[in-house]
Amino acid sequence: MFKDSFKYYKSKNPPPDLDKVLDFDNIEKISSRAIDAQASSNSYGLKSVQTWNVYELVEHPGNFLNYECETIGQRYWTVRCLQDYSKKPNKTNLDAFNLVPDDKQWWDVCQNNNNKLLINKLRWVTLGYHHDWDTKIYTEENKGEFPKDLGSLSKYITQVLGFLNFNAEAAIVNYYHMDSTLSGHTDYSEQNLEAPLVSFSFGQTAVFLLGGKTKEEEPTAMFLRSGDIVVMSKESRLCYHGVPKILQIDSRFWDCFEQNDLVNKEFKEIVNICKEEALWKPFGDYLSHSRININVRQVLRRGQKRLCNESEEKT
Ligand code: OGA
Ligand code: MN
Repeated sequence: MFKDSFKYYKSKNPPPDLDKVLDFDNIEKISSRAIDAQASSNSYGLKSVQTWNVYELVEHPGNFLNYECETIGQRYWTVRCLQDYSKKPNKTNLDAFNLVPDDKQWWDVCQNNNNKLLINKLRWVTLGYHHDWDTKIYTEENKGEFPKDLGSLSKYITQVLGFLNFNAEAAIVNYYHMDSTLSGHTDYSEQNLEAPLVSFSFGQTAVFLLGGKTKEEEPTAMFLRSGDIVVMSKESRLCYHGVPKILQIDSRFWDCFEQNDLVNKEFKEIVNICKEEALWKPFGDYLSHSRININVRQVLRRGQKRLCNESEEKT
């Protein structure tokens, strides 16, 4: 059962045996899938498509995983999540508490005061159609602009995997610390449940559980590391999943910095932060005790222009 596995991996005393956790560094257990090498490379810090390793779990068909965000890409998305996506008018869990003065930004306040308490208080940000944590209903009224770079990245990845019409319309950015968990759930609020869900991991390693359509099925546990990307499509789109544990690892993923051309003219300043160790340092320090997950969804069905509210739908 999902709950039992979750409890097992969450436990501090005794700690779980991680030998059974699926490790994509050990590809013997899984099959790999050929991908379209014709696709052009993109400018958001991904390795070139020809070198991607895409895996599919036999137990959870339609679920592709890979490992393909370069160091500079990991840095780029980390800076975007911490410095930019956390800004208004995007919504965050901090909005409910008056912790950040109206004319200031969370990341800047944290940096200026070296404010450790405030830095650990950011738990989520929503982008595009804002996820409503209570009603779980998206509406046209509760919607912001979706970041273009994240939209292009998600579209590119899904296209390579053969989903030609994906549009990134909503995202949750989750900020985990070493004792954070995300309990088992399915994501069903989107009107379009056929479109895949694209999930990016940065920073510390997660134990991720992917189960079946009911809580009765036993999940597969796998490591998600910095730079990994999970595409939940087809069967796995509506399967139970959760994060029972964050594991402390070293910083080798985002610190072994290869010289790399991240050509992103629109976001030159961000690229500059990634390349200058002194500017990158506060972001690297954050990752040393945190994990960031960007969870991108398409909301609308193909051809649908906007969401109807209930009264409109009835007429
Ligand atoms: C979610 C989610 C998984 C993760 O935000 O809905 O399932 O890897 N996140 O953090
Ligand atoms: Mn989810």
